[in-house]
Amino acid sequence: MRTKQYHAMLSQSKALLQGENDPIAGLANLAALLKETFHFFWVGFYLVKGNQLVLGPFQGSVACSRIAFGKGVCGTAWAQKKSQLVPDVEQFEGHIACSSLSRSEVVVPILVNKNVVAVLDIDSMQLNDFDRNDITQLETLSGIIGDWLIAWNVEHF
Ligand code: SME
Repeated sequence: MRTKQYHAMLSQSKALLQGENDPIAGLANLAALLKETFHFFWVGFYLVKGNQLVLGPFQGSVACSRIAFGKGVCGTAWAQKKSQLVPDVEQFEGHIACSSLSRSEVVVPILVNKNVVAVLDIDSMQLNDFDRNDITQLETLSGIIGDWLIAWNVEHF
């Protein structure tokens, strides 16, 4: 369980976003904060742009830059407006392998006025590295991001 780290990360997130009205600057710092806190293999945001997800701020190795609606874990989270917990990426039909080192993954949608505007994607080199607690905590972060975007009238990227 990463409960203590999540607690610290969530309060730092609020502090980092406070007063920042540029969505890319804010998300870039959150990607760095998540990487520094948990040392995840890959952490980043894909932004909804038209009918695709486009790579946004991230920390980690080179990744696919575009994902279609409903495709892969990220596109599924977008289409279903629902977090995806993938204990073994090889068992997820349609998983998009940006790196062969990724073994498990979690994707959480970010909603503004009930529309998905982005997804947060986290990859681990370990099988089965995420559980319901990760989803719960990351959904709290997603709520913080959604509220922050609404506060600055950002309804899409
Ligand atoms: N695995 C993701 C693609 C993004 S990379 O993991 C960074 C997917 O299936 O949507």
